Amino acid sequence: MSLNTSKATESSSEDHALIVIKNLSKYFEGLKAVDQVNFSINTGELVGIIGPNGAGKTTLFNLLTGFLKPTEGEIVFDGKNIAGWPPFKIAKLGIARTFQLVRPFKYLDALQNAMVPHIPKNMFKKSSTLRNKAIWSLITVDLAEKKNYPAFILPHGDLKRLDLARSFAVQPRLLLLDEPFSGLSFEEAFRVQRLIRDAHEKGMSIVIVEHKLKILMQLVERVLVLDQGKLIGEGSPKSIVNNEKVINAYLGTEAKNYV
Ligand SMILES: Nc1ncnc2c1ncn2[C@@H]1O[C@H](COP(=O)(O)OP(=O)(O)O)[C@@H](O)[C@H]1O
Ligand SMILES: [Mg+2]
Repeated sequence: MSLNTSKATESSSEDHALIVIKNLSKYFEGLKAVDQVNFSINTGELVGIIGPNGAGKTTLFNLLTGFLKPTEGEIVFDGKNIAGWPPFKIAKLGIARTFQLVRPFKYLDALQNAMVPHIPKNMFKKSSTLRNKAIWSLITVDLAEKKNYPAFILPHGDLKRLDLARSFAVQPRLLLLDEPFSGLSFEEAFRVQRLIRDAHEKGMSIVIVEHKLKILMQLVERVLVLDQGKLIGEGSPKSIVNNEKVINAYLGTEAKNYV
């Protein structure tokens, strides 16, 4: 490689930044839930965010999606500072999320739940179009055979995949997944891991907050570490599990086995 490699990488990551977070903070009374955080996500990247409970991970997602207004800082997406925009306007730009706790429409069946995200784009189309798109969503997450089951009888693992189907359906430019593996068995988590990898391979930019570190570290390209609202580490999974500061604050030494 030429001597210019690092410079070239630097300028290309600038060019490809999809979202840039600058000095972002959210304070609740005296509590600094997110504290002067800076990072960017490149187009097509698959990034993990880890950190202890209360580190500010969900608050960060709430800021990025407009569910909370930042105390200060900027969120630059497509060259626009969207900090403080309302959720529906941010969703329209193509930023989608899932929640730590799954929230299906309990009394709708899986198919109806999968139809919901298609409605805005297909308002004036025949309902069969909507239905076909929803069935396709369910097929991609291996739920088609349960399409007529009401959500409230579906096991947790199925609901997690239904949630993924709903978030993929809007073809987001940036997808934020809050603990997609929580409460899943090893096999179920493996299935979800495969679905996320497939979406990433098709070019979707994805950020995942997760506590199941082994499965996360094997999936993502880059990891950000939050602790008490601050970004304390950033790098490849391999560098993160060897980062003293991160080991002391959160991971412990056994983390070396995760990559
Ligand atoms: N709406 C809120 N009002 C007050 N404090 C909050 C609110 N949301 C989160 N917090 C606090 O902010 C900190 C970060 O929370 P959170 O972002 O949920 O952490 P994580 O997702 O990393 O576990 C915690 O101390 C939490 O209690
Ligand atoms: Mg959380």
